[in-house]
Amino acid sequence: MAAVVTEGLLSQPRWLPAWLFYDAAGSRLFDQITDLPEYYLTRTERAILTSCGDEMIAAAARNDALHIVELGAGSCDKTRILLRAAVERQDTLLYEPVDVSATALAEAEERIQAEIPGVLVCPRVEDYTHQFTLDPPLHGHRRMVLYIGSSIGNFEPADAASVLRNVRSALTSGDSLLLGIDLVKDEGTLLDAYDDGAGVTAEFNRNILVRLNREFGANFDLDAFVHRAVWNASQSRIEMHLESRILQTVRIPSLDLNLCFQPGETIHTENSYKYQPGQAEALLKSTGFESEHLWTDDRGWFAVHLARAV
Ligand code: AVJ
Repeated sequence: MAAVVTEGLLSQPRWLPAWLFYDAAGSRLFDQITDLPEYYLTRTERAILTSCGDEMIAAAARNDALHIVELGAGSCDKTRILLRAAVERQDTLLYEPVDVSATALAEAEERIQAEIPGVLVCPRVEDYTHQFTLDPPLHGHRRMVLYIGSSIGNFEPADAASVLRNVRSALTSGDSLLLGIDLVKDEGTLLDAYDDGAGVTAEFNRNILVRLNREFGANFDLDAFVHRAVWNASQSRIEMHLESRILQTVRIPSLDLNLCFQPGETIHTENSYKYQPGQAEALLKSTGFESEHLWTDDRGWFAVHLARAV
């Protein structure tokens, strides 16, 4: 973390990796974001899963039982819809949530075990962006990997492909991947979703500086940085930045850094890529999957793909 922070803050333009958002406070702020009226992603995807979850599970299972793995499980709020659908078809279900946050996994495990009898939760604290392996499926079972919430949107196209290739290499042919992806839509809707009226996203963005102050003894003045959300049409992504209001020097003693910020200078903290219809199919095809089903909402704002490992 020290190396990445140092590299990013010394780059021009400056940047910080988006995974830094998710300390305990940041994860709470993200949960708040998912309830905001402007943040349509979670609500839209949940509606798709609610109306089509049974179909998704049946399609993934074919005539076998399922073993479900989830990448970046987080609070796994939407996942419960799919787990309920799966335990209706089979008596017991093995569910393996994979996440870098042990606390998020422990909470998810407790909640699911209390709410959905029949689900055996086996949490795995792991970074799925690196090479990972899965145990072979039980006899008569097929694996289904859930990668929902448009988390893939945080990756540059080439990195998104390498994440999917990693997933593919952990699977065997006939297993499936359920991929939730946010789609390109009008700019106003996109910008509002990343710059809400209540200022929660601004707080989420600035929390990265709070974290650097706490963990590295930095002296970022939170009031001296403004949240900016920008639609980069040529790259098809929303960018989040923190913009210095003034000429200022920030010290990060434990990293031995003295950073001079010009007024208007920014730190790029996140990319959230938005896909065009058809792009996800191409990405899946190039990474060893065949897109088998596509579910969307009426407005065509969000897509859930079921892809088969070829
Ligand atoms: C968790 C990556 C899907 O890009 O919409 C929400 C993170 N950033 N508001 C997204 C986020 C600002 C979110 N993902």
